[in-house]
Amino acid sequence: MPIGIIVHGGAGRFLDNEYPQALAACRRAVETARALLQQGASALDAVEAATRVLEADPILNAGYGATINRDGEIELDALIQDGATQRFGAVAGVRRIEHPVTLSRWIMERTPHHFLIAAGAEQFAAEQGMPLIDPKSLLTDRQIRGKHADTVGAVALDLQGNIAVAVSTGGVRGKLPGRVGDSPIPGAGGYAENGTGGASATGMGEGIMRALLCFRAVELIHDHQVQSAANAAIDLFTRRFDGDGGIIMLDSNGQVGIAHNTDHMPVAWLDGDKIKSQHTQKNAESRT
Ligand code: GLY
Repeated sequence: MPIGIIVHGGAGRFLDNEYPQALAACRRAVETARALLQQGASALDAVEAATRVLEADPILNAGYGATINRDGEIELDALIQDGATQRFGAVAGVRRIEHPVTLSRWIMERTPHHFLIAAGAEQFAAEQGMPLIDPKSLLTDRQIRGKHADTVGAVALDLQGNIAVAVSTGGVRGKLPGRVGDSPIPGAGGYAENGTGGASATGMGEGIMRALLCFRAVELIHDHQVQSAANAAIDLFTRRFDGDGGIIMLDSNGQVGIAHNTDHMPVAWLDGDKIKSQHTQKNAESRT
């Protein structure tokens, strides 16, 4: 079985001087996941580790440096899903969690539930020994100042053929307090199914939820190459759901699909032994 990993740092528009940093974070996330997968770690381990790298980067809209809501506060959402069982863990509206992807995994593996929100999710985290941080420690000057891209995500394939997906986000800037987008919703913000593939979406969450974009995209793999599936999913998202965003995909052979209708979407992935990344302007992509 080949291994596979693909990550994105969010669809949207990055400042010219910030785009290289976003791309470098994606490449570091792939490096981290590749090392784990080569040692025989699970796809779940790989997507969690990759997403933690992305959550730690202040340029990206997840974890440290995530965007703020209307009241200037951070509210974080995340998802992890195991393609072997379709079990998932998700959190929404957490404020005192440094790595929401890890809390999502703990919910999946340590509770009979799938989805915890806000204070209840934080209470569970504390009960399990996860430090609760000061939400202000996740804020950067940059986030308070300005606009940035959306969400991070990762899809991996391990040596046993298991596929997993993880997604993490601060959501959309200026959102109403309590608003939850697509990212923690399986089938919308992410989806993984062994034997078929996995997908992680980024962009305007209201449309991605209505489209159930990642489920649709993975279903398309049954009849299409994975890149065609990604293109078809974003075409449909653009035409029928009037959405801005993008998707990364990985099939059960380790092939990747990448599509977006935004100016930017930093992506990195494993191609054989090499880490590739996408220097992308819409309609003018180069891959190295
Ligand atoms: N795609 C992230 C969100 O809309 O919250």
